[in-house]
Amino acid sequence: MAAGKPVYKTEDEIELIRESSLLVGKTLAELAKRVRPGVTTKELDKVADTFIRDHGGYPGFLGYNGYPNAICASVNQAVVHGLPGDAPLVEGDIVSLDIGVVKNGFWGDSAYTFGVGEIKPELRQLLKVTKECLMLGIEQAVAGKRIGDIGYAVQHHAESHGFGVVKDLVGHGVGKNLHEAPEVPNFGRRGQGIQLMEGLVIAIEPMINLGTRNVKQLKDGWTIVTADQKPSAHFEHTIVVRKNGAEVLSSFELIEKAESLN
Ligand code: MF3
Ligand code: CO
Repeated sequence: MAAGKPVYKTEDEIELIRESSLLVGKTLAELAKRVRPGVTTKELDKVADTFIRDHGGYPGFLGYNGYPNAICASVNQAVVHGLPGDAPLVEGDIVSLDIGVVKNGFWGDSAYTFGVGEIKPELRQLLKVTKECLMLGIEQAVAGKRIGDIGYAVQHHAESHGFGVVKDLVGHGVGKNLHEAPEVPNFGRRGQGIQLMEGLVIAIEPMINLGTRNVKQLKDGWTIVTADQKPSAHFEHTIVVRKNGAEVLSSFELIEKAESLN
């Protein structure tokens, strides 16, 4: 994954990635309206698939390395790559919904973790800190800094709260392909790794666990779960490196609006 050299994007290409990324945000907001006890992740998958196609996009995860759905839906101890299923969500669950859209030949990739009804304070804290990790990582995505600056910021914030940082899965470049160079780990050392340059488009996606950082894959061939079965959160934005700070190409604005009305 993410082999080869980074491909720096032109402004025209960045606009196309923005369009795809914003469609991901709009789709996640449609799902946000429906996340409640009793809904199944298969129902959410169907809504996303239809909404994306109705807006001129293709749900890019569908068929990607044989993935069978439009969305990844990872409940509680599932970290990422959870398969939509027929089990209804239950009050107190958390669920990461991850979506990729291809439109005009370019990808957008974004994910958000929702609480189902009322969730425990420790889970509210996990979601808050994981979202903060994403934002702190994004703050480091400035031309001249290095990939390790992003990872350090994410890791430091999560670990200062006693949470486990998943190391087996990483963020990635985004463009004509979902996974391009460079890899974007959620851990690292300041000043290490490749230097960030203007026009580099990457997905930053902290996966933060309430307990151990260790994960394993289920026998379904997709779902990644925590080794200790404790809950995990995941937030992801597609961003572009700029000289004076990162520019976020996806958006949580509509998602947060929908969430606040639930
Ligand atoms: N958002 C995931 C990632 O960034 C992709 C899901 S894998 C797929 O790696 F197979 F569902 F596409
Ligand atoms: Co991604």
